Amino acid sequence: MRSVAIKGKREFEIKEISEPVSDGKNVIIDVKKTGICGSDIHYWVAGEPVGLVMGHEYVGVVTNPGSREDLKVGDRVTALPISPCLSCHACKSGNPQYCIHTWDNATGLSLTNPGGLAPKMAIRPDMVVKVPDNITDEEAAMTEPTAVGLHASRLADIKVGDKVLVVGGGIIGLVSAMFAKMEGASLVVVSETNKARGEKAVSLGVADDWMDATDPKFMENVMSKTEIGFDIVIECCGNAKAVSSSLMAVKTGGTVVLVGVSIDPVSIPTAIAVMHELKLQGAIAYTKEEFQTCIDLMSSKKIDMLKFLDSVVGLEDVQSSYEKLTSGVSDAVKIIVDPNK
Ligand SMILES: NC(=O)c1ccc[n+]([C@@H]2O[C@H](COP(=O)([O-])OP(=O)(O)OC[C@H]3O[C@@H](n4cnc5c(N)ncnc54)[C@H](O)[C@@H]3O)[C@@H](O)[C@H]2O)c1
Ligand SMILES: [Zn+2]
Ligand SMILES: [Zn+2]
Repeated sequence: MRSVAIKGKREFEIKEISEPVSDGKNVIIDVKKTGICGSDIHYWVAGEPVGLVMGHEYVGVVTNPGSREDLKVGDRVTALPISPCLSCHACKSGNPQYCIHTWDNATGLSLTNPGGLAPKMAIRPDMVVKVPDNITDEEAAMTEPTAVGLHASRLADIKVGDKVLVVGGGIIGLVSAMFAKMEGASLVVVSETNKARGEKAVSLGVADDWMDATDPKFMENVMSKTEIGFDIVIECCGNAKAVSSSLMAVKTGGTVVLVGVSIDPVSIPTAIAVMHELKLQGAIAYTKEEFQTCIDLMSSKKIDMLKFLDSVVGLEDVQSSYEKLTSGVSDAVKIIVDPNK
């Protein structure tokens, strides 16, 4: 079957790979839609691992339910892409997201388990989640990034009336901003280096305002909006400048939630964190309960994820879509791939 695989730095190739086979346990699906994620962009920029078929935000139709007796052929499903060991302390405490093995065989994030940039996939049965009829394929494919934002905003422990800055207006930043508002923040601001994305955060209604992260008067703007700095900053970029601006923009004693991921170490002014007694809170992925909560929120129309969707493209257009998403000027935030288009 045709797939899109990493070939080199910022380069994909269309590649034939073998179709997944049933081992009696895994669930085999026909992939309907697969989202492009900011984490995928890191792998594409690095150009490795060569041969990786990405796509960890997917929805599909069951063709073989494997060991899942509650599923039948034709059911629509999505899944958590993680692969927890189930036996370590993290797994046993209900936190499979930080099991040290959880990314070893993650779907669409490891060479062992190709992802949704192909028309068929095999998924670990215990990670598969049914999709209700009243949400679209596109919404279902956005469950995963929605759950990342929910997990981050929960760890931010936002109090009603807090002023929250979200650094980075990609899908993770926008969803985090959306949940910050739902949790009662009195002011939600998104900072961006890409003006089009900053303005979009406001026009989509998830942020009250946006700030230009490249503006030399950035800190003056922070203080004019907050007087003492933001109560909470949620960092959704992962680069040194973004993390540093997060440390500077939060109030003394405030909390910075680190969601952005960097493969390389990031150099940051730790003295600010020390002198201002900041709390640094990491946030990785989501729990199963949070994943299901996001499906429920979409199904009950409490959240609208479709407003973040820009376009649906075929496998041939994956390369140009990644280029668009990293152009630094486009307002496109979420591009979804239909491997059968
Ligand atoms: N912790 C987790 O579980 C988790 C899950 C998914 C994604 N992520 C990470 O979260 C980050 C965001 O993901 P995404 O899909 O939204 O990515 P994205 O690349 O679409 O968005 C990042 C945004 O940050 C902006 N930006 C870059 N530098 C900035 C700066 N100094 N100040 C303000 N804005 C800046 C970019 O213009 C871009 O719009 C990525 O690093 C991704 O790997 C983490
Ligand atoms: Zn993702
Ligand atoms: Zn484990």
